[in-house]
Amino acid sequence: MKQLQLGKTGPQSSAIGLGCMGMSGMYGPSDRAESIATIHAALEAGITLLDTGDFYGSGHNEILIGEALKSAPPSRRDSAIISVKFGAMRDPAGGWSLYDARPAAVKNFLAYSLQRLGVDHIDIYRPARLDPNVPIEDTVGAIADMIKAGYVRHVGLSEVGATTIRRAAAVHPVADLQIEYSLISRGIEDEILPTCRELGIGVTAYGVLSRGLISGHWSKDAAGKGDFRAMSPRFQGDNVDHNLALVDALRKVADAKGVSVAQIAIAWVAAQGSDIVPLVGARRRDRLAEALGAVDVALSAEDLAAIAQAVPHGAAAGERYAAAQMAHLDSEQGSKGHAA
Ligand SMILES: NC(=O)c1ccc[n+]([C@@H]2O[C@H](COP(=O)([O-])OP(=O)(O)OC[C@H]3O[C@@H](n4cnc5c(N)ncnc54)[C@H](OP(=O)(O)O)[C@@H]3O)[C@@H](O)[C@H]2O)c1
Repeated sequence: MKQLQLGKTGPQSSAIGLGCMGMSGMYGPSDRAESIATIHAALEAGITLLDTGDFYGSGHNEILIGEALKSAPPSRRDSAIISVKFGAMRDPAGGWSLYDARPAAVKNFLAYSLQRLGVDHIDIYRPARLDPNVPIEDTVGAIADMIKAGYVRHVGLSEVGATTIRRAAAVHPVADLQIEYSLISRGIEDEILPTCRELGIGVTAYGVLSRGLISGHWSKDAAGKGDFRAMSPRFQGDNVDHNLALVDALRKVADAKGVSVAQIAIAWVAAQGSDIVPLVGARRRDRLAEALGAVDVALSAEDLAAIAQAVPHGAAAGERYAAAQMAHLDSEQGSKGHAA
């Protein structure tokens, strides 16, 4: 598997990473044994970057990754780069509340993550969202303390805008920004991506298949109970019809190239720069195998033009999150950023 440098100061990473969120309930039920087999297959294929959040299944996802790492061959286990998000608060019924990225909370969350993962350090540690009550300098300062103490290797960020990125990077070098980026989510192109490039910060792109919507496998109303997509604007009513028509257009381009829709969508993100690592959210081995096929898809200028015609900039109907969640995204607040 091709390796990329994740930001000027970050680790080397496989050219695509595995996002493990879907293995812990965000997209409805998942199969534990198949999830672990998928992580093993990813490591075997040379994927090194595994992404999680301590709040995915309220710890379930970290325990699962810990179990998969324990039963993986030592060489694969040792090459794994674990990226963990913290800060999102849950309740026992699975509900979501506020964010907590105070320095004391950072250290507390980290202590639990190390236990659940069964590791002595985390490679990249990042607040999932900007806590509007805590200056980003304080949160990053706490992660920097944990780096000095040996429990963390690198600082990462997630869904923050240019101003916050600059403030964070002034405290400690930042390896990467994790943020949604796909053919139909291109908000980072104007200001956020240039800022990362100026500061030597890599990008781990999530939602490269728009959570399955542009994977070529989605059909209207496929989301069941407890599936994030049942509430997501792009998957609703007329929006999903409009968005699936874009997928039909993309399918023609993919067919002409002899690849699948998911592969062309992942390859498009990878083609936007060697500083971008697409995170694929496969939770089954067949989906992973398809995603891995994207690594060798080279897109020519003609391919990129055909893709742009099929899915023009800004073509998606519906926001990427519901309004209440959009309000938590510092990345969507323009250059003002949140107050903290
Ligand atoms: N920083 C953040 O705020 C944030 C937010 C969300 C996610 N993330 C991270 O990014 C990772 C990826 O995000 P995501 O899961 O939403 O992204 P995604 O890759 O756009 O969507 C994954 C979904 O697409 C479907 N799919 C269909 N064909 C696929 C294929 N060949 N390969 C992979 N998936 C295929 C699967 O749905 P079915 O399994 O239902 O078929 C899968 O669950 C997450 O696992 C998480 O680690 C970060």
